[in-house]
Amino acid sequence: MARLRVAVLISGRGSNLQALIDACAARDFPAEIRLVLSNRADAAGLARANAACIATKVIPHREFATRSEFDAALDGALQAADIELVCLAGFMRLLGEDFVARWHDRLINIHPSLLPEFRGLDTHKRALAAGVPFAGCTVHYVRAAVDDGPIIVQRKVPVLPGDDEAALAARVLEAEHQAYPLALRLIAEQRVRIRDDRVELCDNDGGWRDALSA
Ligand code: GRF
Repeated sequence: MARLRVAVLISGRGSNLQALIDACAARDFPAEIRLVLSNRADAAGLARANAACIATKVIPHREFATRSEFDAALDGALQAADIELVCLAGFMRLLGEDFVARWHDRLINIHPSLLPEFRGLDTHKRALAAGVPFAGCTVHYVRAAVDDGPIIVQRKVPVLPGDDEAALAARVLEAEHQAYPLALRLIAEQRVRIRDDRVELCDNDGGWRDALSA
């Protein structure tokens, strides 16, 4: 089967990008990263893409007068590379409604909390302040509202006594590096479908179940 053509959008470190690159390096992995796009020329993740011989493109948001012009430039680069699925991985720009609609069900994101809890920034700080026993990460389809949309994969980790933000972030990040390649694999294997804006996953026996059921 042809491999799913993926673009990864980043703004910084790119450790999730690296997890996806590593997964795609396996011969039998059903997706390939065709393009890495960044809104920042200094994103460390660009070097990871270069090292893996993946095409990169920098589209600096500051060069555009409006969000929709920036979004249109992103869209143009994605179309030119014949991309089928877009993965946001630490991409720190909000995408406009038109872009999100154009890539409906073909645009996914990873967020460092168990959504719908702790949408937005500073998730670990807020999780620690709230005293929750578990934290985690979520891979989800992107909808117009921030950190909203059908959930594909979640991974839970414990919050341990004495955790500070850095310790919790590191534990969640490890889970992110498992969750994102898994979500990509499931989509590329066509084992994900959306019903009533919820994700259903296909079991090994061919049956479909709600992604959030145990
Ligand atoms: C991750 O925690 C991701 O969940 C969030 O931004 C961070 C990006 O980290 N959206 P990296 O650039 O992938 O290392």
